[in-house]
Amino acid sequence: MTSTQPLAALNEIPAYLQTLLDYEKQAVQHLAPDVWGYLSGGAMREISVGQNLSQFERIQLIPRHLNDLTQGNTSLELFGQHYPHPIFLAPIGHQQLFHPQGEAATTLAAEVMQSNYVLSTFTNTAMDQLNPHNPYKWFQLYWQGSREKSYPLIGQAEQYGFKAIVITVDAPHVGIRDRERQLAFHLPNDMQHPHTPTHISFPDVSPSEHKLFNGLMKVSPKWDDIEWLVKNTQLPVLLKGVLHPADAKKAIELGVQGLIISNHGGRILDTSISPLTALEIIKDHLPADIPLLYDGGIRRGTDVFKALALGASAVLIGRPYIYGLATAGALGVAHVIRTLLEEFEVTMALMGTATLKEINRDYIYRS
Ligand code: FNR
Repeated sequence: MTSTQPLAALNEIPAYLQTLLDYEKQAVQHLAPDVWGYLSGGAMREISVGQNLSQFERIQLIPRHLNDLTQGNTSLELFGQHYPHPIFLAPIGHQQLFHPQGEAATTLAAEVMQSNYVLSTFTNTAMDQLNPHNPYKWFQLYWQGSREKSYPLIGQAEQYGFKAIVITVDAPHVGIRDRERQLAFHLPNDMQHPHTPTHISFPDVSPSEHKLFNGLMKVSPKWDDIEWLVKNTQLPVLLKGVLHPADAKKAIELGVQGLIISNHGGRILDTSISPLTALEIIKDHLPADIPLLYDGGIRRGTDVFKALALGASAVLIGRPYIYGLATAGALGVAHVIRTLLEEFEVTMALMGTATLKEINRDYIYRS
């Protein structure tokens, strides 16, 4: 993708692509079965993958009527910066698996739709290839095994105009993904990752030592690394994957400025707490002004509303925009974002809320 020209076709989308679920049905036809398994699947029996979707059905909306919404808007402020709307793109690695233009297409679409994107450490497109003037971009850090190896990535994110560092803390080990294993999924050998090797090399362990606990866990990030990170970047630091209120409190005490409440789309630890429940609990344990973001299972504008009602400042979508990418490149990603945003705007109007700040628990009911 070298120009915005394909996005001009946004108004000529075929009628069968009305919803994010329609994109899911299309995407499967564009991808090899093992890549589809990698993208759509999750850990073990994929119970969390399913619950991330079904949790929204248990929440009912209670609309208010007759309010004046003529000054309505979807904008928000985070860390002193203005964002036009609360639909962000979650970090997803190796995007050339899904479309030859990978992150180059995704980030172009995000920019056109003014959607804040979070670039994965495992991007196939280097940070310096992206528009340095786009203010809506954050960098997601996977810890590189040590401070010395992690620091250059942080430095580059600052240099190339990223506005926040998101460190993912819920995956010190990859999830046990039955489906992916059965399909023998592996990354192509020639795939380029400009910023990092795809896997942290395990430290050597002696025969008497445990490969996991004395090996990989030795190089996984610890709380003092988070403290170090906060002190060594000018950017706000967010932790992604926090689910326990005690972790949330500890992070904030260490200077972390925001949290992304997430179970990694159900890909790491099966049967983990539903992230929507975790969001509600964590919201009650922290000062009201700490930004909490949410991801997992957002597929409709009503889902966005419910996450905001339970305390999120913004939400991130993961698989849905990759379904758009696989189906139609940058155009597909842009259409996915636009579709969800329009659904959310209509939901706000039907709920009688003019601004994001008005959305709260008074608008939802759980039986
Ligand atoms: C992810 N996710 C992820 N998270 C992260 O912090 N760094 C990464 O590189 C990746 N890579 C990745 C690849 C694929 C194929 C998927 C599906 C997911 C997790 C992602 O950021 C997000 O938490 C979930 O995708 C959100 O759930 P939904 O929207 O996909 O239901």
